[in-house]
Amino acid sequence: MSPTTPPVTAATTETTNPVLDYVRRAVDGYPVVPVRTVHTEIAGIPRTLTLKLEGHSPWRSVKGRTALSLVRSVADDLTVPGATVVESTSGNLGLALSAICRDLGLRFIAVVDQRQSPVLRKAIEDNGGELDWVKTPDDAATHLQDRIARVRELVRDLPHAVWPNQYENDANWRVHESWTAPELDAQAGPEAQVLFAGVSTGGTLAGLSRYFRHARPNLRIVAVDVRGSTVFGGVPRPRALSGIGASRRSAFLDGTDCDAVLLVEERRAVACCHTLRADTGIAVGGSSGAVLAGALEYFYRHPEVRHALCLCPDLGDNYAPTVYHPAWLDRIGLPADAGRLRHRTGAACPGFRADAPEHPVPDDEAAVPTAPSEEDVPR
Ligand SMILES: Cc1ncc(COP(=O)(O)O)c(C=O)c1O
Repeated sequence: MSPTTPPVTAATTETTNPVLDYVRRAVDGYPVVPVRTVHTEIAGIPRTLTLKLEGHSPWRSVKGRTALSLVRSVADDLTVPGATVVESTSGNLGLALSAICRDLGLRFIAVVDQRQSPVLRKAIEDNGGELDWVKTPDDAATHLQDRIARVRELVRDLPHAVWPNQYENDANWRVHESWTAPELDAQAGPEAQVLFAGVSTGGTLAGLSRYFRHARPNLRIVAVDVRGSTVFGGVPRPRALSGIGASRRSAFLDGTDCDAVLLVEERRAVACCHTLRADTGIAVGGSSGAVLAGALEYFYRHPEVRHALCLCPDLGDNYAPTVYHPAWLDRIGLPADAGRLRHRTGAACPGFRADAPEHPVPDDEAAVPTAPSEEDVPR
C-alpha cells in the first residue's frame, strides 16, 4: 500500500478533537499485519520461525502504530493554530508522521542524519515533511544524541513546536502492549517458545514484553541489538544499519523484563537479509535481519527451542541503496551474492524454506526496487 494512503475508515464515535478522530479512524482501518512461516535447520534440528512482517502496514513499518499512538498522546497540543510536529527519526517513524501530519494539515520537521535510508528520506519529503540534517561524522557514535540536541533547539526556537519524543513518551511502548502484541498472540500458534524483537528506542520490545509476560508467561523474550550500540551497555562503535541500536538507552527499557539480550554483528544481520531473500523471496530490512541473526544464534545455543516468533519491523524496499546494494555491501566489506555472504559470515545463516502464505501477500514483499546509481548510495 502506498505510504500516501491513510488507513482511514468511517468514524465510529466523533470527539471534539479532530486529531483524536483521525487517529481512531486510522486504527479502525489498519489491516491485520500478516505473518509468514519459514523453516531452517540448526545443529541438525529443524526449527520454525514465524515472521511478523510489519512492513505490510499502511506506512510500511511497525512505526505506523507508534506514530498514531504518539500523535494521540499530544492531540491537544496539535489543535493549536500553527502547531509544528518535530521528531528525531531513523526514517520509519518520520515516514508515518509525515503522512499523518499531511493529512491533518500540520507542518512536520524530521531531524535526520546521513545514516538513514535515502528511500525513507525521500518518502518523508514526498509526504510534505521537512528534513533537518544533523551533520554528525560517519565514524561518530553520537548520531542520536546530536539529533535530540537539534530537536531541543527547534522546540525552543519555533512557536507552537510539539515534540512527541519517542524516546521518553510511554505512548511509544503502550501501543505495542495494547495492539501489536495481542495481534501477534492471535496469529502465533501455542507452540511458540521464544519471541525475538530488535531494539532502538526499545518501544516495541517494552510493549511486547509487558503483554506476553501476562498472556504467555512461558514464552521467552529475547532482545536483539547490534554490536556498537550502547542500549545494553556495549562498547560504542560506528554502525551501518539504521533502525536498530542507539547511543543512549530509553528510560522505559528499565521496566522491561526479558530473558536474554543478544548483540549481533551487523554483517550477520545483512547476511540473513540476503539469504532469506535468496531462499524465500521475502526481503526484510536490516533490523529484521538482525532479529533473524539473533534467533539463529539462540537456536544454536538452545537445541530444545524449535519455534520462534520474530518481530520484523520493515521490508527490504526501504534499503535498495543500502543493505541490498552491492556498493554499500562493498563498503562494509561483504561480497554481494548471498552464497558467498553465507560463506564469509560463517555458518550462522544456514538457509530458509518458506511455507506458502496463508493469505495473499501484497506484491511489495520481495520488492527491492531497482538499485539506484552509485551516487545515490549513502556514505
Ligand atoms: C526499521 C526499524 N527497526 C526497528 C526499530 C526499533 O524499534 P523501537 O524503536 O521500537 O525499538 C525501528 C525504529 O525506528 C525501525 O525503524
